[in-house]
Amino acid sequence: PAPGWSIPADVVVVGSGVAGLTAALRCEAAGLTTVVVTKARLDDGSTRWAQGGIAAALGDGDTPGQHLDDTLVAGAGLCDEDAVRLLVTEGPDAVRRLIGTGARFDTDDAGSIQLTREGGHHRRRIAHAGGDATGAEISRALVGAVRARGLRTIENALVLDLLTDAEGRTAGVTLHVMGEGQHDGVGAVHAPAVVLATGGMGQVFSATTNPPVSTGDGVALALRAGAEVSDLEFVQFHPTVLFLGPDAEGQQPLVSEAVRGEGAHLVDADGTRFMLGQHELAELAPRDIVAKGITRRMQELGAAHMYLDGRHFGAEMWEHRFPTILAACRAHGIDPVTEPIPVAPAAHYASGGVRTDERGRTTVPGLYACGEVACTGVHGANRLASNSLLEGLVYAERLAADIAAEHTENGPHTRVPAPVPHHGTPAHPLLAPEDRLAVQRIMTEGAGVLRSAASLERAARRLAELHARASDTLDGEGKTAEPGVDTWEATNLLDVARVLVAAAALREETRGCHWREDHADRDDPHWRRHLVVTLRADRS
Ligand code: SIN
Repeated sequence: PAPGWSIPADVVVVGSGVAGLTAALRCEAAGLTTVVVTKARLDDGSTRWAQGGIAAALGDGDTPGQHLDDTLVAGAGLCDEDAVRLLVTEGPDAVRRLIGTGARFDTDDAGSIQLTREGGHHRRRIAHAGGDATGAEISRALVGAVRARGLRTIENALVLDLLTDAEGRTAGVTLHVMGEGQHDGVGAVHAPAVVLATGGMGQVFSATTNPPVSTGDGVALALRAGAEVSDLEFVQFHPTVLFLGPDAEGQQPLVSEAVRGEGAHLVDADGTRFMLGQHELAELAPRDIVAKGITRRMQELGAAHMYLDGRHFGAEMWEHRFPTILAACRAHGIDPVTEPIPVAPAAHYASGGVRTDERGRTTVPGLYACGEVACTGVHGANRLASNSLLEGLVYAERLAADIAAEHTENGPHTRVPAPVPHHGTPAHPLLAPEDRLAVQRIMTEGAGVLRSAASLERAARRLAELHARASDTLDGEGKTAEPGVDTWEATNLLDVARVLVAAAALREETRGCHWREDHADRDDPHWRRHLVVTLRADRS
């Protein structure tokens, strides 16, 4: 259907986590008419679930240079060093500005921000809030600021497609909105700048720390719009997710790295600390190394999980420092005060995404990306723990500055969208919502923490079958899926899964969080490079 309503703006921000709301607040402060659209409620994305914290060189004796070094090591040779340098040097002030926006971090008796450690950090540099509820506090502060500033927001708005003008420049987005009164149904926000801040794609796998809304919508849109997408094969599996059984599916409770940062040990059923001797940092090695260590030990012992032992913390520390994790464990019948926590790796973070430069620009003029949906180059093959909230902040500020500068230079104008047939309409093979589970199972089996040519080939074939079935609907053969939110989410998951599997199959080496059983070593001569994907206009 053609858009039934439209709103003009200078900039439309799609997504409402730390990146989206920071971008929106900065654009608004620069005098731009800013509209925030988000798929569920303003605080429903991944930011709210972040536990450990936000990394920045804020502590005595710490420097951006040391943060840079740790980030580059974790990124396993694929970080863009200039992008990391911007992140770590602008990071501390960005955190201070976040505090100015109202976020309250945990402090010591002297009023200094308390800092903890996580995997891959050689120093205490992770600021946290509410003990282990950092994301919830950041979300509270930013949503409060957006409301206080009176920014226009549209919730329950699934983004469909990018609108472009006759020259291929961004002209806005089409949206499918449910339950928001006058803006129900398919409509459009017309704006010369679009910021994708739609978060991650953890739901592409069966078990993930990500909330149900993390369905890769931004990457899927960017692919449809012809933007470059990079590094999708680097999916980070968080080492310690509360183990709820071998068949647990959907969002799983995270047990923050900060628990290890404060001294908890990873042990097997016999109580052996199996990470000792595997890396100088043992349990605090970079995340990929710990996830591999756990997976290997599980394989050796034929076990479905390992344990995280923090009994020595005592009840008081658990209650004050990790109240969220304590409550989640107890809700599942585990008491970390008296017993080790069963843990296993689960999908956590997309290190790749929509490719941007240092100003957040994608390869489509006027289309920007920040936060997990973006690939700014700071994460390389494996994101350093707690760099994601920081990246969302820093790069949102950078792109907002660029949009404001463009606006000053070119003046306010609305680009007239070209009448491109597929924009805003589901002329795209749509996957039935019930096939979402099939995509997730295929991906976990074939492209999970440990991959091989055979497993990836099988996954690619089964995903292609799903795609072919969806394509039949376009030819008028199969039953057409209703173009609702569930349908688009399943379709987006399938689209990003296919590209992810193709990239993972091509990368015949083990690097960072991409682990190939059949290519066990890092291969710098051939693979110290990025896999960049664009889809042709016919999206075949
Ligand atoms: C955690 O708290 O372990 C998650 C931190 C992160 O993903 O950066």
